[in-house]
This record gives sequence, C-alpha cells and structure tokens, in this order.
Amino acid sequence: MTVADTISHAQSAFRGRYHRDADFGAAAPGRVNLIGGHVDYNDGFVLPMAIDRYTVLLACQNKGHVARFFSSQLDETFEFDLTRRLVPGELGHWGNYVLGVVSGFLETGVELPGFDALIHSSVPTGGGLSSSAALEVGVATLLERMADLSLDKSHKALLCHQAENEFAGVPCGIMDPFASVFGEKGRLVKIDCRSREVELIDWPDGQVTVLIINSNAPHQLVDGAYAERKYQASQALRKLEVDSYRELSLEQLEAGRTRLDAIEFRRARHVVTELMRAEACASMIQTGNWDKAGQQLYQSHDSLRDDYEVSCRELDLLVETGKEIGRTGGVFGARMTGGGFGGCVVLLVRTADVEEIAASIQTRYQIETGIEASSFSSSPARGAFAFVP
Ligand code: GLA
Repeated sequence: MTVADTISHAQSAFRGRYHRDADFGAAAPGRVNLIGGHVDYNDGFVLPMAIDRYTVLLACQNKGHVARFFSSQLDETFEFDLTRRLVPGELGHWGNYVLGVVSGFLETGVELPGFDALIHSSVPTGGGLSSSAALEVGVATLLERMADLSLDKSHKALLCHQAENEFAGVPCGIMDPFASVFGEKGRLVKIDCRSREVELIDWPDGQVTVLIINSNAPHQLVDGAYAERKYQASQALRKLEVDSYRELSLEQLEAGRTRLDAIEFRRARHVVTELMRAEACASMIQTGNWDKAGQQLYQSHDSLRDDYEVSCRELDLLVETGKEIGRTGGVFGARMTGGGFGGCVVLLVRTADVEEIAASIQTRYQIETGIEASSFSSSPARGAFAFVP
C-alpha cells in the first residue's frame, strides 16, 4: 500500500461525500520507534522513523464558518463553529484530537475559512503506530496549506503534542508528532527529548529492513498504566533530588537506592539504561553494525518487560521467537515498541529473509496464542506533506 493509493481512495471518497473535488490535501505518516522506549517524557533520546502508512486529509472551503470533518472509514462526521472558543473534550474520541489542533492554530491568531474535510487513513489504529499523531499532524499540515503559511517544524509538532495532552487527555511524550513531522525518506529521526533537537540519521543500506509485527492482542490498562509509569519515574528523580534523567548516572542511582522504593528504583533503572542504549544504538546503525544494534533492541525489551513492566505475554512471545530464529536466520534484534501492553514489536531483519521470518513468527504465535498477528515491513518514510489534490 503506497501513499498514492491512500490519496486516491481519499479522493474518490471525497467526491462521494461532497460531490466535488478537493482543493487542499495533506498526508502525515504513523511511526515506529526503533529504540528509546518510554523515555520521551523522561528527557531521553528516541530513534523513531516515519512508516509507509499515512493519514490523508482533503478539504475544500465552504461558505460559512463551520469546520466539518468526515471520517470515511468510521462513517462519522463532526463539525464546529470556528468563530467560537473551542473547549477540550467537547467532541467524541477522535474528534478531540482534531479539535485540539484547530484550537491551537486559532490561538496563534491565524484566521481560517469554513471548510469541509475528509479523513482517510492507512495507519492501523490501536497498534502503537501513532495513528493519533498522524491525524493531528495531518490536520496541522492541512491547516497550514489552507491558511497559506508554514509553521516552524518543532512548533507544529509541539502544537500537536499539546492537542493530544490537553484536548484528548492523553499524557504522552513528544516523540510521535516529532517523528511524523520530521520524518524523511531513508532517514531515522533521532530526537533529543530534552533539548528537542532533531538529528536525521541515514539508513545505511538496503540489506536490513524494519519488520513490524502487530500482536493484535487487546490493549489492557493502557491509559492508567502509562500515567502511573510516568509518575513513578518522576518520583524517583524527585527523591534523588536530580533535575533530569540526563544528570543521573547508573552509579548515582545505585548509590541512592535506599531512598527509593523497589518499583521506583526499577523504573529509574530502565530510564537510565535505555538512555545509554538509545544513544549507542543510533551510532551502531549509522555504521551498519547490525549485530550490536540488534543486541541493544533485545536488552531494551528485557528492560521494558522487567524494570518498566509495560510488556505482555504476547509481545514477549513475538520477541522470543525472533531471538530463536536468530542471526543465522536473519533476525538481528527485536523489541516491543510504543506504549506496550499489546500493540507491535519491531525487528531488524535481513531484507532477503523478511517474508519468511514474518511468516514463521506469525505461525508460531497463532499456535501458541490463538491470535492472528499481522505484519508489514517499512523503510524510513517521508514525513508529513501538503499537496494539491
Ligand atoms: C506512546 C506515547 C509516546 C511514548 C511511547 C513509549 O506511544 O504516545 O509518547 O511515550 O508510548 O515510548
């Protein structure tokens, strides 16, 4: 499935809905994070890339002051008046993401005409591939086009982050919108979540591919458990009287162990070690050292499972199966990705073996869990862009 396919589906749905062609178009990708799990809200380094799955928005102006959004897949519409103050939480689930971005735009003083829009997406929902950031960044990119302006990229990503936190009530970090905005074809997006600086890292060769396997395991406890982890990690810092995880070494953490309870200690140990792994892994990928990079992924998974406790049986099984196939079978490394408790695992695999590897992991998974996993491979894809439909 290419972005061109998604755009063309969106165009025919637009005609069916509004009986005309659109004047404005925008597309924003989902993302997968290679390493740096649960550290974006802990001042860490993360290494995501945009994936070849996009949320496409098309629009034309209408004669009034109403913004109207139709989701072709959910067959749902919502609309609101652009001349009044927009309030967090006033729309249903996905409407709040959109509302938050529009509100952020209006707050900068930009004037928007009334418009009719359509949303069509190929980013799987609920799989930890950031369908919400793709929607927010897609809306922001569409609005830029309609208002004929171009926001600073970081500002745009932060506006989307704020929308998700304040309007949708999800206390996530900054990684997802940054990856969707800054992604470039053939490049990973290394983000320093403390300074918010972005470094693009070239994917060194075509010999190795990123394989994403969705466990399709039902998400459980996700929202509450995410906020709880965030709280525990920040409590550990507070008790150690350190301002940022960037200033905490493993030795200092060990020395302060008695000041923390056992859970806080483990949460902090995950963050401190994951920061080191993410930095190391980025340089290993840069130099094409896949064996070592893959080891960092396995260690990241172990730490997320044991210290941060955000994995689940299904994700562990997928990673274990990858490990058993091993280097000789073409798997360099694997880990859970995204928020956890279900969702996807990400694997670094030899390109020539990708289909065979996916099939054998999925077969074993189905036998052991009774659940059918789904998979696709992606190279680093292009970030959000606007287009003339
Ligand atoms: C979710 C959040 C991200 C990040 C990951 C964990 O995907 O949206 O901000 O915290 O979990 O790495």
